[in-house]
Amino acid sequence: MISSGCKIGERHGTDLQNPPRFAKAPAMTAHKEGDPTTLNRLYGRAKGKKLRTHQQHLVDHLLPQISVPLDGAVAAEVLFGYDRPLHFEIGFGGGEHMAYRANMLPDHGFIGCEPFETGVAQALSHVENYEGLGPLGNIRLHMGDALEVLTRIPDDSLSFVYLLHPDPWPKARHAKRRMMNDGPVDLIAAKLKPGGEFRLALTMQSICAMR
Ligand SMILES: C[S@@+](CC[C@H](N)C(=O)[O-])C[C@H]1O[C@@H](n2cnc3c(N)ncnc32)[C@H](O)[C@@H]1O
Repeated sequence: MISSGCKIGERHGTDLQNPPRFAKAPAMTAHKEGDPTTLNRLYGRAKGKKLRTHQQHLVDHLLPQISVPLDGAVAAEVLFGYDRPLHFEIGFGGGEHMAYRANMLPDHGFIGCEPFETGVAQALSHVENYEGLGPLGNIRLHMGDALEVLTRIPDDSLSFVYLLHPDPWPKARHAKRRMMNDGPVDLIAAKLKPGGEFRLALTMQSICAMR
């Protein structure tokens, strides 16, 4: 169980005693209509089934401690106290990949964005205790639109961007909602360091759905 005196930062050497304005993200509106290439619009589910008691506890108590600040530049020094390679995952689902990578690279910093509360709660349980190994101190989360955070990351600063199985939005009239559109892709390119990696995973089914 996470308590108010949680030691999340200890395992990976991150000081979370004085986090910079960590706060809950504002409530989001799903299924907005309008120009889908406009940043800060969110499509898809934000809420699922009622969270279990401990999941709700993690959302209420752990998430505010490790949330990306609501405004200002999003840089490694701000999030982790000093410069380190930054990884950015768009739509992490339940956070399995992010947690796996964060555990593998304890000196790197991970920013994960996911609007779906159930997924965030699952990711928080990995952060609280990854595979029985202890907490992950090198993850920061944003429960909301990845593009909102990405715009605040200085150019040329990400070592990795992950977009794994993005929502395919198969209907032609929803095509502009896809993350793989010019606006988001240009933004990702601008934020990656020279030599940084963009890791995109698509299934054949989702590629076919998008055609
Ligand atoms: C098909 S799921 C894939 C989840 C995970 N990456 C995986 O491979 O299992 C797509 C995810 O993207 C999230 N998503 C949709 N729009 C997003 C946005 N604007 N910012 C961040 N995540 C978003 C959804 O909530 C969903 O969890």
